[in-house]
Amino acid sequence: MSGLQCLLYMSRATGEMAPADIDRLLEGARQRNRSRGVTGALLHYDGRFLQVLEGEPEAIDQCFERIQGDRRHERITPLYRAPIEVARFPEWSMRYVSSSGPADRAVSAFLDQLQAQPTEATVKQAITLLHRLAAGSAHWQAR
Ligand SMILES: Cc1cc2nc3c(=O)[nH]c(=O)nc-3n(C[C@H](O)[C@H](O)[C@H](O)COP(=O)(O)O)c2cc1C
Repeated sequence: MSGLQCLLYMSRATGEMAPADIDRLLEGARQRNRSRGVTGALLHYDGRFLQVLEGEPEAIDQCFERIQGDRRHERITPLYRAPIEVARFPEWSMRYVSSSGPADRAVSAFLDQLQAQPTEATVKQAITLLHRLAAGSAHWQAR
C-alpha cells in the first residue's frame, strides 16, 4: 500500500457560482472522492478557491487532473504536495467552507500572500486555516 499524500492548490472562479452550482459541484465531487478514498476541504471566498486533497497518490493525480480540466475555474496554481502520515480531513469527502459574514480582510490578505509566496510556513498556515474553518468558525459556514 502506498502512503497518503496531500495537495494544496488555489484557483479563481471563472464566473459567479450560485448556491445551486456549488451544490451540484459538491455532490459530484463527494461521490467520486468517496469511491476513491479522497478527503479534504474546499474554501470558496472572494472569487477564489483554495482546496486541499488527501489520499493515495494515484487518486490525487486522477482527481487533480479532472479538476485542472474544469472550466468553472482558471489560474489553477498548485502550491504544495507532500506525503502525510495521517489525513487531516478524514471525516470529510469534501468539506465546503464559505464566508457567511462581512468580508474578512485578513483572509483576503492571507490568500494574496499565499498565492504570491507559497512558503512552507504559509502553506502550513493555509492547511491549518482550512481545518479550523472546516471544523466551524464564526462568520464562516461549513457544510
Ligand atoms: C473548485 C473545484 C473543486 C473540485 N473538487 C473536486 C473534487 O474534490 N473531487 C472531484 O472528483 N471533482 C472535483 N471537482 C469537479 C471536477 O473538476 C470535475 O468536474 C469532475 O470530476 C467531473 O469530471 P469529468 O467531467 O471529467 O468526468 C471540482 C471542481 C472545481 C471547480
